Amino acid sequence: MASVNSAAATIRRLEGKVAIITGAASGIGEAIARLFSQHGAHVVIADIQDDVGLSLCNDLESAIYVHCDVTNEEDVQNCVNMAVSKYGKLDIMLNNAGITGANKASILDNTKSEFEAVINVNLVGVFLGTKHAARVMIPARRGSIVNTASVCGSIGGVASHAYTASKHGVVGLTRNSAVELGAFGVRVNCVSPYVVATPLAKNFFKLDDKGVHGIYANLKDAVLEPNDVAQAALYLASDESKYVSGHNLVVDGAFTVVNSGFCVFGQSS
Ligand SMILES: NC(=O)c1ccc[n+]([C@@H]2O[C@H](COP(=O)([O-])OP(=O)(O)OC[C@H]3O[C@@H](n4cnc5c(N)ncnc54)[C@H](O)[C@@H]3O)[C@@H](O)[C@H]2O)c1
Repeated sequence: MASVNSAAATIRRLEGKVAIITGAASGIGEAIARLFSQHGAHVVIADIQDDVGLSLCNDLESAIYVHCDVTNEEDVQNCVNMAVSKYGKLDIMLNNAGITGANKASILDNTKSEFEAVINVNLVGVFLGTKHAARVMIPARRGSIVNTASVCGSIGGVASHAYTASKHGVVGLTRNSAVELGAFGVRVNCVSPYVVATPLAKNFFKLDDKGVHGIYANLKDAVLEPNDVAQAALYLASDESKYVSGHNLVVDGAFTVVNSGFCVFGQSS
């Protein structure tokens, strides 16, 4: 087993590939950027946190930072063009940027503008990233688009109405674009994590790392970390998943398949 692990550690699974990662200055996106870089990818960090994004580039083997607000089509278009002009192609588009919006349980307290703000980043942002990646991937007749959805893309009751609606939308957009872009050899998948202790989750739940790690989890004796999501994204981005498209890779320790109203197994912890 040790030799298998050390072999896996030395194989660079994205050697020479060009990847844009939105929301890469923090949390899950940062973990994806670091892992993709370790695996030989040229990485484009696309975010609105310019200082953090720029300093992350210094840690990576081959990376550039592009200021890119994913709700702004010109920014997204420019980001894709920058990747192609700097590295000559685009192999991977990781649409990861996301926000939760306010933690207001009652729909009566939610304003239209708050709802739209979350949909704009989480869903319109993924639409724009997919559209402009497809613009250069279709003529190349190859590419892998990976979207960060969530367990909130499969079930209700875990986050706000806007967030849940946006993530269901991301799963739907992933499936629809996978069907269309399959004709051009382009794959589209999404990865759906359970709760990870990033700034997004800590702000939403008003908890520190320990508090987030203490939230109910179906899988005991393991903590979901940003790198676990990055490993799932790595599989979907790499050629190892060459026939996988339209798939929602849920990384939740079976959280979304438990029926909490009826379960024959005792919950021992
Ligand atoms: N942390 C979790 O528990 C969790 C669970 C499931 C899914 N997700 C999803 O994972 C993705 C990453 O979230 P995270 O937890 O790493 O959060 P995070 O807050 O650590 O990182 C999000 C990044 O997105 C960037 N961003 C926000 N708005 C942007 C915009 N308009 N344009 C460009 N970049 C923007 C932020 O600057 C930040 O760097 C999100 O799509 C989120 O919904 C997170």
